[in-house]
Amino acid sequence: MSFKKDFLWGGATAANQFEGAWNVDGKGPSCSDMCTGGSHTVSKRITQTIEENTFYPSHEAIDFYHRYKEDIALFAEMGFKVFRFSIAWTRIFPTGMEKAPNEAGLKFYEDVIDECLKYNIEPLITISHYEVPFGITEKYNGWASREVIDLYMNYCVAIFNRYKGKVKYWLTFNEINSATMPMGGYLSQGILNEGTTDFINQVDIPKLRFQGLHHQFIASAKAVKLAHEIDSNYKIGCMQLFATMYPYTCNPDDIVKTQQDSRVMNYFCGDVQVRGEYPTYMNRYFKENNIEIKIEDKDLEILKEGCVDFYTFSYYMSICVSSDPKEASTSGNILGGVKNPYLKASDWGWQIDPKGLRYTLNEIYDRYQIPMMVVENGLGAYDKKESDGSINDDYRIEYLKEHIEQMEEAVEDGVDLFGYTPWGCIDLVSASTGEMAKRYGFIYVDKYDDGSGDLSRLKKKSFNWYKQVIESNGEKL
Ligand code: BG6
Repeated sequence: MSFKKDFLWGGATAANQFEGAWNVDGKGPSCSDMCTGGSHTVSKRITQTIEENTFYPSHEAIDFYHRYKEDIALFAEMGFKVFRFSIAWTRIFPTGMEKAPNEAGLKFYEDVIDECLKYNIEPLITISHYEVPFGITEKYNGWASREVIDLYMNYCVAIFNRYKGKVKYWLTFNEINSATMPMGGYLSQGILNEGTTDFINQVDIPKLRFQGLHHQFIASAKAVKLAHEIDSNYKIGCMQLFATMYPYTCNPDDIVKTQQDSRVMNYFCGDVQVRGEYPTYMNRYFKENNIEIKIEDKDLEILKEGCVDFYTFSYYMSICVSSDPKEASTSGNILGGVKNPYLKASDWGWQIDPKGLRYTLNEIYDRYQIPMMVVENGLGAYDKKESDGSINDDYRIEYLKEHIEQMEEAVEDGVDLFGYTPWGCIDLVSASTGEMAKRYGFIYVDKYDDGSGDLSRLKKKSFNWYKQVIESNGEKL
């Protein structure tokens, strides 16, 4: 048996993609609440005010806010040992700038945490998952401003104190490195530059994104230190979007380009958060891209004092990198790449590469040698509800099975892997497209892209399959 005895099997979600109740009990609007629906081919729009008669998928989402007991009971039935969810910052601080936290928001997450603990499910909480308060966007242009560090710290003080003794694992920022790519500007940092009206074609000012990242690194490091001071049992992790990159050919130009792209997009943020310092390769990148970052006197010391305890990442796909701009491209998780002729892709063009997960786990572990967790993985697919209510998602079972097999290989290779939380364990709103049609769950939710649906929950075929995977600690696939 290769997975640890107490391996954390579970599932992952994010507040803005499944809670709904976007303006209930004092909650303020987040950046995601300002995004309309979209599709694989039509970008979501970002609106500055809430438009009447426009559909905003996050506003109701799948209504976890009112159904968390039912949903957590289903997770428990599958045998979850861990449940990854995020706290919506705007439930606790509606504009991000209030002095005191909103009690109703704190209470809601306390109830969710207690419900998990009732079933011995370990909560794994993402502090910021693509839901920067829109108030912070309006006043500060998101993380581009240094003031946001203090606002984030107020939020951390409130939640670290409140959930002390109940929670062990925290992640400071979801896919922090998504801000090395243009689409991450709004999504992960709340940066909304003048002229931006849609999500795919944002008016991009790279200098702001990288300055924003610096602020997020400082905030993350301070949060690690604060958490350890508040509760010595707290373990704080980083979370990266890992878009594994292969050279398209053995042409040395492809090899070097792959190394350079992968450093900036995949490794840079992890290097800072795990090692507590900027990697030297970024100096050249900043210089060649005319990016100058303001770093204050104490900042480098703060980074050193706030190294994360564990490393987590999302893994859905891999891409190829070519020095030849004419090579055919494929889409993917925030960024695209060159098509790999050896791989199949999902209906959204994300290339399916289980062996890439083994490769990636090994690459990352070789670099840092700290405990790791795969906190997102899965297949976004069109599911069909049969007339008898069954959903036969064999393709999802196949995808997950092949990825779990490769995780097992990585563990055999020596990687210290302690958990796995497939994405969207219950169907939820897609982050990139705003669709419900792109489903990941073991649990089907009756909700559709036009906003219709009675929100009822149904177990898919993969539900019982995953239950048996957990029961057998990954033996029965
Ligand atoms: C990750 C995000 O990028 O991928 C999630 O952390 C997101 O929020 C997931 O939902 C899958 O992407 P999508 O676009 O299919 O929802």
